[in-house]
Amino acid sequence: MENFTFYSPTYFAFGNGEENHTGSYIKRFGGSRVLIHYGGGSVVRSGLLDRVKKSLEEEDISYVELGGVKPNPRSGLVYEGIELCRKEHVDFVLAVGGGSTIDSAKAIAAGSVYDGDFWDYYQGKKVEKALPVGTVLTIAAAGSEGSPDSVITKEEGMLKRGATGEGLRPKFSVLNPALTQTLPAYQTAAGITDIMAHLFERYFTNTENVEVTDRLIEGLLLSVIHEAPKVIADPDDYQARANIMWAGMMAHNNSCGVGREQDWGSHDIEHELSAVYDCTHGAGLAMVVPAWMTYNLKHDVNRFVQLAVRVWGCQMDFQNPEVTARAGIRALKNFLRSIGMPLNFGEIGAKEEDIKKMAHTSCYGNGRKGTVGKFVRLGEEDVEKIYRLML
Ligand code: NZQ
Ligand code: ZN
Repeated sequence: MENFTFYSPTYFAFGNGEENHTGSYIKRFGGSRVLIHYGGGSVVRSGLLDRVKKSLEEEDISYVELGGVKPNPRSGLVYEGIELCRKEHVDFVLAVGGGSTIDSAKAIAAGSVYDGDFWDYYQGKKVEKALPVGTVLTIAAAGSEGSPDSVITKEEGMLKRGATGEGLRPKFSVLNPALTQTLPAYQTAAGITDIMAHLFERYFTNTENVEVTDRLIEGLLLSVIHEAPKVIADPDDYQARANIMWAGMMAHNNSCGVGREQDWGSHDIEHELSAVYDCTHGAGLAMVVPAWMTYNLKHDVNRFVQLAVRVWGCQMDFQNPEVTARAGIRALKNFLRSIGMPLNFGEIGAKEEDIKKMAHTSCYGNGRKGTVGKFVRLGEEDVEKIYRLML
């Protein structure tokens, strides 16, 4: 295990009705003038936004609102939010929605107290200072409710890039599983896929002796695989939603990733798909992750075998461990298919002729110097071959 520091000070309020206390959580973390940020309207239609506003009013907290965040959130709205925060002397940013809304809120929070262009943070500059951010989460997926990260797409060139820094970690997050019951099945499944991908990105490591985090990851994967069919069959299954929601947070606040080198190649490869085709991030990952696994299998067959046996219950083939490893990848594909995720390029409207350009951008974007991933450092040609496995 490698040396590490771990400091994850987000306050979580989990359970039915917790959104009605949002005002008191904002007060606890010093907010008095709030920007309420939300997406394309699901929180308006469900009545959630009204309940959250009421809880702020009960605490005499004033607010301004900015809706309209799109999935794969754009820089244009971030600039608008920064201007609004400055004009209205906002001292707290509240995201009510999914990962896209939370990421947009984080970008606004950082940009509002920065003299330069907020995009600097999405080109490698670490975020040291930001307005405090709180979240009321409506989808179990990205893990942004407990992470110090934000991903934004710049309209010019459709560049999807990430920023990170402790200043971006939410002060509090309200997690009410019942709020996720209105999700369309496709979004639920894409969220589940993203959660699993966050675990795989940490699982595939060259660091040895990481038994605790290996087992934590495997345990979370087993739980998600067990609960997923329940929510697909019955969207109102509160208990299954609850387990998936907490797994989503655990998968990405890095408690499972400490002390080990992490990969993140699949995410870098996927971000090109959601940037170019505006597909749902989790759906893009459903195509990328099995292809990435197939391509990198030989780098450390034993690690793939361990996953296949411990998580997918595959039979160990002692003569030919690769057979077991491949059975694990097949089991993952079957699972993703069973929850309604795409596995091939055509299913999200992706095109073969874009492959070369996407392979190049994924290896050179975000300050990268020609490779993605750590488990195996993949160059442009490797990434191109991985995209081709999805055709
Ligand atoms: O915009 P509204 O109307 O709210 O609709 C959303 C959106 O269309 C809808 N939705 C959300 N909650 C709902 C709901 N519809 C009905 N009922 C509800 N309860 O679902 C759609 C997707 O929402 P979005 O916020 O985009 O989902 P998600 O949480 O998957 O976020 C995806 C974004 O997060 C980034 C991704 O790249 C992508 O841009 N990521 C952020 C990370 C981070 N900050 O740590 C890490 C991840 O790896 C990921 O890259
Ligand atoms: Zn993700």
